[in-house]
Amino acid sequence: MILAIDGPAGAGKSTVARELAKHLGLTFLDTGAMYRAVTWAVVERRVDPHDEAACAAVARSLRLDFDAEGQIRVDGRPGEPAIRSEAVTAAVSHVSAHPAVRRVIVPMQREEARRRGGVVAEGRDVGSVVFPAADFKFYLDASPEVRAERRAKEVGRPDLYGEFLLAMRERDRLDMTRADSPLVRAEDAILVEADHLDAAGVVKVMLGRVKARARA
Ligand code: DC
Repeated sequence: MILAIDGPAGAGKSTVARELAKHLGLTFLDTGAMYRAVTWAVVERRVDPHDEAACAAVARSLRLDFDAEGQIRVDGRPGEPAIRSEAVTAAVSHVSAHPAVRRVIVPMQREEARRRGGVVAEGRDVGSVVFPAADFKFYLDASPEVRAERRAKEVGRPDLYGEFLLAMRERDRLDMTRADSPLVRAEDAILVEADHLDAAGVVKVMLGRVKARARA
């Protein structure tokens, strides 16, 4: 079974996908971690994030896989927490927008799902492009204000709310307006609004949909 969850940055997709995978006995596939891993290597090797051919060459040079906990490994090394650094976060929207990079990474995602026999995948295009025939597609949305407020609370810096809000809006703009595989709600994706739901509430709604279909 393939379950695809797309949505903007900071909507809580990872937490929810991880939890759903546990409930359903499936593997969690963090597709954003793969673009972050490529970006990490781009930053480390001082490659220009705007140079499409050079970024694709970096992507091709890496061996990406996941450990038993679903944490990414880059050439056998743990990718966490380096792939979440500020430098990587600032460059990843540019690196992941290159079609030549996506042509390397998307087949790896499909292969991972095939090898695992099923996944809960989360990202920006997993329902629209990577797994168009997914058994379930969800689009997890939340307003930029709510996402920025949650991020500020998470890191214990309420004073940074304004900064997070601007950064969130900029990442949305880049993810939604790029030419290749922009963030969109697939026509057949179930919309889940998380402004007034915590992660447990979102998991409950999604599991409800899965179980309802199993009963039908
Ligand atoms: O979900 P995240 O913030 O870790 O994703 C990092 C970046 O990767 C994000 O800016 C958009 C990109 N991404 C993508 O282009 N396609 C995906 N399926 C997942 C993430």
